[in-house]
Amino acid sequence: VSVEKPQDTWLVAAYACQRRSPLPNNNQLLTDALETLAEEAHFCGHEGRSLAFSRASSVLKALPRTVRRVQELDSLPCLGEHSKRVIQEVLEDGTSAEVETIRQSEKYQAMKLFTKIFGVGVKTAHQWYQEGRRTLDDLRGHPAQLSKEQQAGLIHYEDLNTPVKRADAEAIGQVVREAVNKCLPGASVTLTGGFRRGKPSGHDVDLLITHPVEGQEAGLLKKVIACLDQQGFLLYHSIHRNTFESLEDSDQEPSSHASSMDQYERCFSIFCLGDLPGDAQEGAGAEKPSRVRRTSGASRFWKAVRVDLVVTPYSQFPFALLGWTGSRIFERDLRRFAKREKKMLLNSHTLYHLEQKTWMSAASEKEIFQHLGLEYIPPEERNA
Ligand code: GTP
Ligand code: MN
Ligand code: MN
Repeated sequence: VSVEKPQDTWLVAAYACQRRSPLPNNNQLLTDALETLAEEAHFCGHEGRSLAFSRASSVLKALPRTVRRVQELDSLPCLGEHSKRVIQEVLEDGTSAEVETIRQSEKYQAMKLFTKIFGVGVKTAHQWYQEGRRTLDDLRGHPAQLSKEQQAGLIHYEDLNTPVKRADAEAIGQVVREAVNKCLPGASVTLTGGFRRGKPSGHDVDLLITHPVEGQEAGLLKKVIACLDQQGFLLYHSIHRNTFESLEDSDQEPSSHASSMDQYERCFSIFCLGDLPGDAQEGAGAEKPSRVRRTSGASRFWKAVRVDLVVTPYSQFPFALLGWTGSRIFERDLRRFAKREKKMLLNSHTLYHLEQKTWMSAASEKEIFQHLGLEYIPPEERNA
């Protein structure tokens, strides 16, 4: 919650999950600069430093208008000396010399290029950089050294780094909905991630699948994938057990519950989406655009889109929905707030009270906010 005080400074809460961060971001120039610093620190393995810059950026996203003078920032949390210095520079000169130097550096550019490949993290990118590789063609020359995922990422590099529009996300949602309902009538498909937060475009499409009868969802993901594959919609897919939170909270996870932590299955995929406006009008009997594999030029009328599919048991759906809606900083602070302020463990499956040693169930996101003693923040205001 941010309230404008008379002396032109703001009151902003310390945790992102206590703030309303609607779109648009009124301080894009500043947050872009801070996020470049966060990214650079991440590329160097300095996670604490990276998080500090991300938090500083996030605070500015909660401000109701554009920052004009650095003095206005005095009352804000999470802004360190370094962040303030960069903000001041951008306010005065329109740009920060430090940020520009990073953006033009060979290492930053190579790391950026490589980490934008589907299936490539900072570790791999850094290794390639150390080996003297700089371009995508340097990698294409050694396909045997790439995972299947990375090979697919390279083939579709351009498409996968073109923002996905909301209309495409809705279209993919509909395709998945039809496949899901063929496999299991009554199951639902929900668009989550950035699109649920109201973003007009994103880097992928995040879909959450569940069924109101607990247990019915078991085995569903494999069937849905097979169905989509048969229809020619999949350029790539791999099914994983979800290890995201067990990695993040590995030191605190109550072991008695560890087995059910493995229940979510997720699929990283690349969809083949027909995107000619004419496609829809061709009607029944027209060749499915997804079966056409033209690879270049103006005649091409499909594109590759990254899609994340997650299946969840109904009782855990509100936790999964909250956990997959983001933003990443909002999620991080929800968990941090739960642990530090409420002695509770929150993840995408459950909420656990550490002192009472009880699981707290919830039928909606609102109930989870209530359990945490937080004011409900709707998805559109979670763009922290
Ligand atoms: P764009 O895709 O760039 O539009 O942004 P986004 O906010 O949708 O990001 P992304 O698709 O990467 O992630 C969406 C949300 O899912 C974020 O809040 C992540 O924290 C969360 N998320 C991503 N991967 C996992 C995972 O493996 N497990 C869980 N529980 N959450 C995840
Ligand atoms: Mn997303
Ligand atoms: Mn995603």
